Amino acid sequence: MTQRTAILSIDGRSIELPILSGTLGPDVIDTRALGHHGLFTYDPGFLSTASCASDISFIDGDQGLLYYRGYPIEQLAEQSDFLEVSYLLLHGELPNEAQKRDFLAKVGKESMLHDQMGKFFQGFRRDSHPMAVMVGVVGAMSAFYRHSSDAFDPVQRQTAGLRLLAKVPTIAAWSYKYNEGEPFMYPQKRLNYAENFLYMMFATPCEEYLPNPILARALDRIFILHADHEQNASSSTVRVAGSSGANPFACIAAGIASLWGPLHGGANEATLKMLEEIGDVSRIGEYIKRAKDKTDSFRLMGFGHRVYKNMDPRAALMRQTCHEVLDELGLNDDPLFKLALELEKIALEDEYFIQKKLYPNVDFYSGIVMRAMGIPNSMFTAIFALARTVGWVAQWQEMISEPEHRIARPRQLYTGAQRRDFVPMEQRG
Ligand code: SDX
Repeated sequence: MTQRTAILSIDGRSIELPILSGTLGPDVIDTRALGHHGLFTYDPGFLSTASCASDISFIDGDQGLLYYRGYPIEQLAEQSDFLEVSYLLLHGELPNEAQKRDFLAKVGKESMLHDQMGKFFQGFRRDSHPMAVMVGVVGAMSAFYRHSSDAFDPVQRQTAGLRLLAKVPTIAAWSYKYNEGEPFMYPQKRLNYAENFLYMMFATPCEEYLPNPILARALDRIFILHADHEQNASSSTVRVAGSSGANPFACIAAGIASLWGPLHGGANEATLKMLEEIGDVSRIGEYIKRAKDKTDSFRLMGFGHRVYKNMDPRAALMRQTCHEVLDELGLNDDPLFKLALELEKIALEDEYFIQKKLYPNVDFYSGIVMRAMGIPNSMFTAIFALARTVGWVAQWQEMISEPEHRIARPRQLYTGAQRRDFVPMEQRG
C-alpha cells in the first residue's frame, strides 16, 4: 500500500509528511521531520496532538465509546471485575482461570505496606487532604521498594506495577483513617479488592465489619470505570515523568498530583460541592446562567470533556450505579441525586450546552454514589487515583518499553525579549 502523505507548502517549499493510521480513530500526520526544516508544530493543551501510539484504551468522543484493550467499557463494567480488568490493562488480554488466580494471589500478598511507612502519616496534619498524603506516601514508596525501582528492568517494572496496584488502596484508606483519628486497619486475605478497601476504610478493631456486597460490587464498578482513559492530563504526566527513567513510584505520585486538579479528577469533589451549593431545584437556572456567563469563572462541574462531544459512557454507567446503591440503601429520595438528575435534564435541553456539546462526564454522578456509601467528599479523588493507578502503570510500562523510547522534551514558540545586554543597577530606571 502506498504511503499516504500530507504536503506542507511554506514560502515556496514543499514538505512531505507521512500520514499514519491506527486500528481505530483519526489518522495522524507524523511531524517529527519538521524540526529538520526549522519548524515546530504549535498546540498548547494538545487539542490536536497525538503524543504517542498506544494499545491500551480508545475513546471515540463523537460516538461516546470507551474501549479497554478493545473491550467496550459497558461489557467490562457489567461482566468483569476490577482486578480482571487490571490484568487486561497490564497484559493486553483477559486472564484465564489460572492466570487470574495467580494474579489475585500476587496482589493479595503485596497489599500490606512496609511497617515503617505507617510512620509517614504521622508527619501530616490530621486535617491534611487525602490527596496530599497520597502524593507524599506513594512517592516515598521509592525509599522502601528500591529493588523494584529500576524503570529499565522489565522484572522490576512488573513487580513495581503489582506493588502499586496492591498498596495504593491501603495508602488511600489509611489517609482517611488518619483524618478520622482512627487506627489503621490491615487488608484481609478473605476479602476481594473492593471489599478490602471498604474494610480498611470503615472497620475498627472494636467490632466485626462485613462489607455490604452490593456496595462492594458498586465500588468495584467505579474502579473499572476510572481505570484508564487514553492520554488524559495525569496519564500524560506519568508518561513525561517516566520518560526520564524516573522510578515508577515517583511517576505515579506525579500522576496523583495532576489528577488532583478540579478540572481533572478533582471534579468529582467539586461537583458535589456545587450540588450542595445549588441546594434546590429552584436554583438550577441561576447556576446554568452563571455557567454560560463569560464574565463568571463558574463552570458546571462534572460537565464537558476535551474528547467526549457526546455522553461520556462512564457517566451513564455511573448514573445506573447511583440508582442501584441508593435503592440498596433506601435513599431513593436522596435530594442531591434528584437535584443532579434535574440539573442534567435542564442542562442537556439548554442551547448553550447543546451547541458546545457539553455532557455529563464520569465525575458528575460518582460523588453522589460515594457520598451515599458514607465516603467523604475529600476521598472522592483519592478513590479516582486508586482506580487510575493501574492505567497509569500500564501507560508507563508501555512508554518505557517502547523500542523508540526517548525522553519527552517539547519545544516552544518563544515570545520573549530579543537579545539585549545586561544593565548595571546604576543605569536602571
Ligand atoms: C476528567 O481527559 C480525560 O480523559 C479526563 C477524564 C479521565 O478519565 O481521565 O475523563 C477525567 O477529568 C473529566 C473532566 C472533569 N472536569 C470537569 O468536570 C470540570 C468542568 N469541565 C470543564 O472545565 C471542561 O469541560 C474540561 C476541563 C473538562 C475540558 O476543557 P477543554 O477541553 O479545554 O474545553 P474548554 O475549556 O476549551 O471549553 C470549550 C468551551 C468553552 O467555551 P468557549 O470559550 O468556547 O466560549 O466550552 C465551555 C468553555 O467555557 N465549557 C463549559 C464547561 N466546559 C467547557 N462551560 C460551562 N461549564 C463547563 N463545565
